[in-house]
Amino acid sequence: MNSFVRATVLQTSSPEHLDVKRDVLIEVSEGIIRRIDPASSRRELLSDKSVRVTSLSEGMYLLPGFIDCHVHAPQWPQLGIGLDLPLERWLYDYTFPLESKFENIDYANAVWSEMVPALLGEGTTTAVYFSSIHHEATLALAKTCLRFGQRSFIGRVAMDSPEGTPEYYRDVSASEGISLSRESIGQIRSLDAGRGLISPIITPRFTPACTDTLLNGLGELAMETGVLIQTHCSESDWQHQYALDRFGVSDTQALKQFNLLQKNSVLAHCNHTSVNDWEMMCAIGAGVAHCPLSNAYFAGGVFSARRAITHGLAVGLGTDISGGSDSSVLAQCHNALTASRYLESGVDVKKNSQDRGVPNSRLDVVTAFWMATLGGANLLGLPVGQLEVGKPFDAIAVRDLGAGFESAKDDALNHELQTIERILRRSRNAQITDVWVAGNRVSGIKESN
Ligand code: GUN
Ligand code: FE
Repeated sequence: MNSFVRATVLQTSSPEHLDVKRDVLIEVSEGIIRRIDPASSRRELLSDKSVRVTSLSEGMYLLPGFIDCHVHAPQWPQLGIGLDLPLERWLYDYTFPLESKFENIDYANAVWSEMVPALLGEGTTTAVYFSSIHHEATLALAKTCLRFGQRSFIGRVAMDSPEGTPEYYRDVSASEGISLSRESIGQIRSLDAGRGLISPIITPRFTPACTDTLLNGLGELAMETGVLIQTHCSESDWQHQYALDRFGVSDTQALKQFNLLQKNSVLAHCNHTSVNDWEMMCAIGAGVAHCPLSNAYFAGGVFSARRAITHGLAVGLGTDISGGSDSSVLAQCHNALTASRYLESGVDVKKNSQDRGVPNSRLDVVTAFWMATLGGANLLGLPVGQLEVGKPFDAIAVRDLGAGFESAKDDALNHELQTIERILRRSRNAQITDVWVAGNRVSGIKESN
């Protein structure tokens, strides 16, 4: 049966352009948008009492659902805590011990069934997950995403190096890491059964945790299966230098040599990447999951998303749960804007203001919104991130908190720009009232009439 949503849509069509569709009627069947018409042109249908239309009320807007390009699902229990150590110590002191607990399937299921609906409620209609090294817990995560209706990529984490991992939490060998990764690809694909909702993703944790044999094998597996790849790249000074020391080339170049830099590969962070690295990524069609809040704790600097996007790089946003302490993609829009302003102005007031920052680094609101939606979709090669005919209906309804008052420059031209600006900076979970994935309402109280 067809369903109908009447709303004003705010979305992006490029990093620079806010696209506004005022008071349209969106017709959805089998999860796909079939028609988008001005509501005024469908009066007959709107007055037909037998047709149920979800109409957003005054001050509510329909946005494409958010895409979180980088989530560590088993780190959900430590979200918001334990960020007092540098990356390489944080992994050993807090994170590897926590992730190792997912060997227990009951523990895993308890975490997954709290986390997935929580993220959906925050408007994350697509999530790209690192699971743990455990096969069973990874499949359970896939089943949980299906049960709650979240679009997702799910990656069993591969890590086998005795130098970069603790004995209690690693693949017993490179060949076991490769065969378990292969097995989870097959099983996630058969769970999805052609629905196109959940997909596997090949997930070497990062080069310091993997032997050459494992990295090579996973590159081959990606070529053989056509499955996407995700990993961490040049996140911190330490990780960046580690790659230079071990491989004699940058982390990005090393990934390329292992065939782990492919079309739609998701490289998390990339804070220490060079323009040369960006050229490689652009030529191949790989891109960056920008995790601005996590970067404040581990990166040692700010990733210049502005410059990367101007360079033509695909950039999406990531919460990096729990390296980032906030699970909301909306919050990452705000964090990306704030971080970019610190990068532009500089932060050490002891320096002259002209020498303090990096010019032309600021992001604007539309670009942040683009990263959270269409930028992420482009990075992953998914037809979401925009509400258009022929695309899946992945959307959220959000309340604009400032709708009651006129501002100084509240003319027709500025009105929607100010609305999205306020939504990105001020809206919280409580303002997200409804969430749909592939046409199914997956969270929220109905705003229907
Ligand atoms: N690098 C390797 N593993 C991790 C992780 O779990 N989180 C972050 N932020 N960086 C990593
Ligand atoms: Fe991460």
